[in-house]
Amino acid sequence: MTSIKTFEDYKQVYRYSVEQPEAFWSEVATQFVWKKKWDQVLEWNFHKPEVKWFIGGSLNITENCIDRHLPHRASQTALLWEANDPNEPSRRITYQELHDEVCKVANMLKMHGVKKGDRVCIYMPMVPEAAYAILGCARIGAVHSVVFAGFSAGSLSDRINDSNCKAVLTCDGSFRGDKKIDLKGIVDEALKKTPSVEKVIVLERTRGPVTMTEGRDFWWHTEMTKVNAICDAEPMDSEDLLFILYTSGSTGKPKGMVHTCGGYMVHIGYTFQTIFQYREKELYWCTADVGWVTGHSYIVYGPLMNGATSLMFEGIPSWPDMGRFWQVIEKHKVNIFYTAPTAIRSLQNAPLSFVERHDLSSLRLLGSVGEPINEEAWHWYHANIGKDRCDIVDTWWQTETGGFMISPIANVTPMKPAFASFPVPGVQPAVMDEHGHEIEGNGIEGRLTIKFPWPSMARTIYGDHGRFRDTYFSTFSGKYFTGDGCKRDPDGYYRITGRVDDIIIVSGHNLGTAEIESAIDEHHDVVESAVVGFPHDIKGQGVYAFVICYKKPENEDKLRGEIRDTVSKIIGAIAKPDKIQFVSGLPKTRSGKIMRRILRKVAEGDTTNLGDTTTLLDPGVVDEIKNGAL
Ligand code: PRX
Repeated sequence: MTSIKTFEDYKQVYRYSVEQPEAFWSEVATQFVWKKKWDQVLEWNFHKPEVKWFIGGSLNITENCIDRHLPHRASQTALLWEANDPNEPSRRITYQELHDEVCKVANMLKMHGVKKGDRVCIYMPMVPEAAYAILGCARIGAVHSVVFAGFSAGSLSDRINDSNCKAVLTCDGSFRGDKKIDLKGIVDEALKKTPSVEKVIVLERTRGPVTMTEGRDFWWHTEMTKVNAICDAEPMDSEDLLFILYTSGSTGKPKGMVHTCGGYMVHIGYTFQTIFQYREKELYWCTADVGWVTGHSYIVYGPLMNGATSLMFEGIPSWPDMGRFWQVIEKHKVNIFYTAPTAIRSLQNAPLSFVERHDLSSLRLLGSVGEPINEEAWHWYHANIGKDRCDIVDTWWQTETGGFMISPIANVTPMKPAFASFPVPGVQPAVMDEHGHEIEGNGIEGRLTIKFPWPSMARTIYGDHGRFRDTYFSTFSGKYFTGDGCKRDPDGYYRITGRVDDIIIVSGHNLGTAEIESAIDEHHDVVESAVVGFPHDIKGQGVYAFVICYKKPENEDKLRGEIRDTVSKIIGAIAKPDKIQFVSGLPKTRSGKIMRRILRKVAEGDTTNLGDTTTLLDPGVVDEIKNGAL
């Protein structure tokens, strides 16, 4: 009893999944190909914390993504690739071709000394080869660590070093709208500080000039001619590592979330099918980047496990014009379109003619992910893109959760705008008050935790289990703390209200305020800084930085430009502050802690009610900050 077609089914399946979670998940798991069946479904302890699923089972996720489909869909398109430039032909990769390419990449990695358990960094744009790289690693049991190809050299080397990657797979460059980005140059810069990297394989994409280091760097196309397309799938224990993916934390150091093979496979495969209600032959398009968890779970693994056709798009929504997404939907007759609120809001601001000139009648379903979707954007999306016909699945989840946690089910759950609605079967949320008690009943608000394990949860932070425990399992004893706030309305629908910690979500990307502060502080004129989020029409949240300098800046705008460049260089352009206010001091408590609550209020433009400021070391500084607000 795991399949859902009606809301009644959902209620029944959900109840079953909570009452008998092990029976439920083991029924789901039997729908996958295992090399050896598990001996025990689950073992867990949230205090340690330790979670193991499908213990003793052996599998390879690539067999579930590829091999199992070959007898009946070898010639079906697995990946449909649309280039950045609308004039460049799109590419169709069938399941058979995907099999061959993945096996070749796997053999290429082996030829270069990569073995099971080795970490491989993938720093690639949205090209089909990025999916081959991911699956090629999984094929041989190498652990992939994909780093979003918009991160700077410094961010890349930190991530490579944190998990001691042995090899890097990258491109000469990437296209983004009318820009060409020199990826290999960034990799070269990063690799000056990464002693663990032995080999770099470079895919040709932009054909820009690159420097190849003899003995370390190899061309993808040359190496791929040296290997064949037969590569047995490595048997992986359920709890062997599948991948590491970094996400921002509340200290400057990113957290390498560790996902393991069995549970991840089962949860992602099941939720893709269940939430989207994917139907045979539908064309599914998720606009995320493979560098984020959405790309991992719902561009590559989820769709492929279900024998779907997944569209991969290299470009951006605004180039050559603001109608690019809609043009792609029309061109390929996309049925399911899954994007982020920030993209919706930016396209909503363009004249409606960009939408109206395209035929969107192929669409059956819309999705949203990455941040709370505001009601206005939801209604615009529903009316103008879905033409009031298509459901919207507002999927709440995290890098840490691996897959969907709270979401409507397509054509099943009665929708409420801006509500992620109900937990996915098997997911048991609990809303907590600030004293650590669970709030029962409906019509309530609090902090969102999960009180029972789910298969695709991250098992640890790579190399730092203590931080994993402290970050997620110590705020509320015996529960996984998400870092998000939520409401549960009188009908029991969940609405995620946003982060309650020091993480801000800018254009759907998680950024730690501490990470941005430490980048700003690298500028030689800066003594100290404090970063908070503020409401931003397009990005959801923008970055507001309060900065103390050694001496009063002579030219504030010039310094702002330099600080932005510094952040861009150290982290990447996504983290650049939108607003920089120079201040002579920060509101600190007597113990030296910055009262961010006050800064948040100022950044939001609400300076009338700053609450109690008497515990501050120097309450006078607040007036200066208020008066200088941008
Ligand atoms: O605050 C929540 C927000 O994004 C955070 C997770 O970010 P990340 O790990 O980068 O994963 C993004 C893709 C899943 C969450 O803690 N978030 C994500 N989806 C939603 C959301 N907030 C509200 N509604 C959503 N649908």
